Amino acid sequence: MDFKIRLIREEEEEEVYGYWKDGILNDHKRESIQYFTKLLSVRSIFVITGFVIPFVCGCKLIGTLLSLFLYYVLVKISAKLGKDQIQIRDDMRSIIKSYPGRFFVVEDSTSANKEICAFIAIRPKFIDGSLFNEILSFSVCPGYRRRGLGRLLLKHVFSLSSCSDRGVYLSTTCMQEAALNLYRKMGFSETMVDWTDWVQVQTIISYFICKYILVLRIHQFILPLQKLRLHYSFD
Ligand SMILES: CC(C)(COP(=O)(O)OP(=O)(O)OC[C@H]1O[C@@H](n2cnc3c(N)ncnc32)[C@H](O)[C@@H]1OP(=O)(O)O)[C@@H](O)C(=O)NCCC(=O)NCCS
Repeated sequence: MDFKIRLIREEEEEEVYGYWKDGILNDHKRESIQYFTKLLSVRSIFVITGFVIPFVCGCKLIGTLLSLFLYYVLVKISAKLGKDQIQIRDDMRSIIKSYPGRFFVVEDSTSANKEICAFIAIRPKFIDGSLFNEILSFSVCPGYRRRGLGRLLLKHVFSLSSCSDRGVYLSTTCMQEAALNLYRKMGFSETMVDWTDWVQVQTIISYFICKYILVLRIHQFILPLQKLRLHYSFD
């Protein structure tokens, strides 16, 4: 396998937008279901299914059936809202304009069409008076995962950030377990776990559920310049 990191080209914008959108639909749909069955969401769902409806109905059986129905309706509604949420991310509709010189793709040079198999964007962000590079739209296409491409792209960003004297910042949600593992492994410190409401969740099922019913955890990570230099040596 031979992989090359380079800037996105104009003719690839549509393709990458497609990968990004599909990734969100597929990954988050799957992860939302996992999220449902663990974490704190369970508590909130039980509040609805286990107490409120049966109590209102005065009959546990009807209450449980009704709550299952409610769950089904919520999933359907949130699927619709999730699509709306994707459309809100205008930055991904015109990538080069939104991230001039700051949107990188990984090309699989051994594939016939030199397929794009991963991508990452950065943009400047001030935190406490210092300039950081914020990571956005970071994804590895499903068939290419667990081969070190995520790590490779992060190292690329680290290298660029180190050259421009910036630390690295990002935020993600508790549903992105693979990403959480990766960031922790790459030396990021978790600066804040935010239990508040909606920030920037681009999920399909989670939109409705997380915004209105559950509380979603938002993790913020930071890798200050000093730590970045200590951790990684760049050529
Ligand atoms: C998160 C993501 C970018 C990781 O990319 P990747 O190329 O598969 O990651 P790597 O192969 O470089 O893995 C590096 C480390 O990340 C962690 N990791 C990666 N995938 C994981 C998974 N499915 N489960 C648990 N840990 C995982 C592991 O610690 C791994 O190290 P190891 O292989 O030595 O165990 C990829 O899974 C992805 O695109 N996910 C969907 C989009 C997303 O969540 N993006 C981040 C938004 S904030």
